Amino acid sequence: MPTARPDSVALVDPTLPIPAGISRRNFLGFCTAVTAALALPQVVTRQVAEALSSLAASGKRLPVAWLAFQDCTGDTESFLRSFNPTVTSLLFDLISLDYHETLMVPSGDGALARLDALVAAGGYVCIVEGSIPKGANGAYCTIGGRSALSIARQVCSRAKVNIAAGTCSVDGGIAAAKPNPTGATGILGAVPGAPNVMHMPGCPVNGVNLVAAIVYYLTYNKLPPLDSTRRPLFAYGKDIHEEGNCERFKFYDADLFVHAWGDIGSRKGWCLKEMGCNGPSTQSNCYQRNWNQTSWPIGAGHPCLGCTTPGFWDKNTPFYAIHGD
Ligand code: SF4
Ligand code: F3S
Repeated sequence: MPTARPDSVALVDPTLPIPAGISRRNFLGFCTAVTAALALPQVVTRQVAEALSSLAASGKRLPVAWLAFQDCTGDTESFLRSFNPTVTSLLFDLISLDYHETLMVPSGDGALARLDALVAAGGYVCIVEGSIPKGANGAYCTIGGRSALSIARQVCSRAKVNIAAGTCSVDGGIAAAKPNPTGATGILGAVPGAPNVMHMPGCPVNGVNLVAAIVYYLTYNKLPPLDSTRRPLFAYGKDIHEEGNCERFKFYDADLFVHAWGDIGSRKGWCLKEMGCNGPSTQSNCYQRNWNQTSWPIGAGHPCLGCTTPGFWDKNTPFYAIHGD
């Protein structure tokens, strides 16, 4: 049965050149999905489509350096599994992921030489995953004989834009939890003068949000609007707990709470506040942008740990206790 065309697609010039290797349908689907992920009106789909089309036609791909320090690779996993908008269908034709230790072909000295060349050329976006240890003059994390601290100082300070992908590169994450033995910190803790830093916390970062933020930058040549902690408003502008966001809010409103794992409320999907849910004090759109297009913590029956809140490991532990509204 034919499906109705979304209005946003009808807005796009039908003669717009489509990047090679992707069907018109998939290209417009990508642009529509990104516009929705950015919480922008459908009319913006046209601008996104035109910008990406002209970028692809120019053959100029945005150079990206992805630095991984004290991390679990969860942010890379989340980014690669971003679905709708998917990463592989288009994004890799628009960016050039010149340095990523997990994904790049060169290794050892060849990989480091590529990073040096990128830094020398400038004009790149730097994405950082994992915390940067400052203790013992950076000795707790070294790559190719250099400390993460020294690499971050060199690469972040010369980037056009720095994106902290995941909580660890925002404020140190779990490695910075008390007593923080390595002196772990985020981009700005390690490189206070780093230019144009955007924080995208989450444990891990939401891949759809990261793709959307990159496409916003490709479209407008600037970062999306940020909140006071440098988080993009499109992804971190609303409370999880708000009515219409959390799928369990109707039970909160009706005073129906889970009180023990496996109790009747747990089986019926009631509100998790009594189990320590931090949804009332957490801003994130994870209720909308599920992981692997499947689920999110509260949807899976687990209270929100508040993983997008600055300092959440220390602030919100013990995770299963009530911390107030
Ligand atoms: Fe949802 Fe948590 Fe709020 Fe309950 S307390 S409605 S589970 S966000
Ligand atoms: Fe994190 Fe809470 Fe969302 S734990 S992923 S902010 S539901």
